[in-house]
Amino acid sequence: MARLKVGVLISGRGSNMRALLEAAADPAFPAEIVLVISNNPAAGGLEVARGFGVATAAIDHRKRTREAFEAEVDSALRAAGVAFVCLAGFMRILTAGFVSAWQGRMVNIHPSLLPSFKGVHVHEQALAAGVRFSGCSVHFVVPEMDDGPIIIQAAVPVRQDDTPATLAARVLLAEHEIYPKALRWAAEGRLIARGNTVEVSGAGAAAPYLVNPVAQ
Ligand code: GRF
Repeated sequence: MARLKVGVLISGRGSNMRALLEAAADPAFPAEIVLVISNNPAAGGLEVARGFGVATAAIDHRKRTREAFEAEVDSALRAAGVAFVCLAGFMRILTAGFVSAWQGRMVNIHPSLLPSFKGVHVHEQALAAGVRFSGCSVHFVVPEMDDGPIIIQAAVPVRQDDTPATLAARVLLAEHEIYPKALRWAAEGRLIARGNTVEVSGAGAAAPYLVNPVAQ
């Protein structure tokens, strides 16, 4: 069966992108990464992607209007035959026009248990709130930031002595587990929209899916 052609949008080091690339390196994985785009030409993830033999594009948002930036991203994705988009540490807010063009075919990973702690400084927010668990979420992208139907989440404990950095590192391990899983489900056509929620069909789709990342 043809593999789902995926474009990944990054802004930085791209460790989630790497997790997707590593999963897709298995020919049996139902999706392939055909293009990685960064709005930041200095993103370390671009080099990582090239190391996997994947085409990359740097489209610097600072040198374009928002409309021109999004138009270039959109046409690069389409030219590469991309059918599904993964945002992986992509630090630009996308307009409603771009989102609606890809709605239902674009997902994001966020380092909290949504709908808690949207936006930036997520781990600071979690520590300030005194939660005993944090985690990460993969969700479909809608025009509202860090909103949209949730596909998968993983919870990790918050420790008494956590700093934003130690919590971020623990959450990141869980991110690397759940993002490839979400992409696999999408590529297998197993995500069924039910209003604002997503049902995962088929065998092995234990819901809720819990990961137990290595304690740090
Ligand atoms: C991750 O924590 C992701 O959830 C958030 O930004 C970070 C990106 O890290 N949106 P990386 O570039 O994937 O390593």
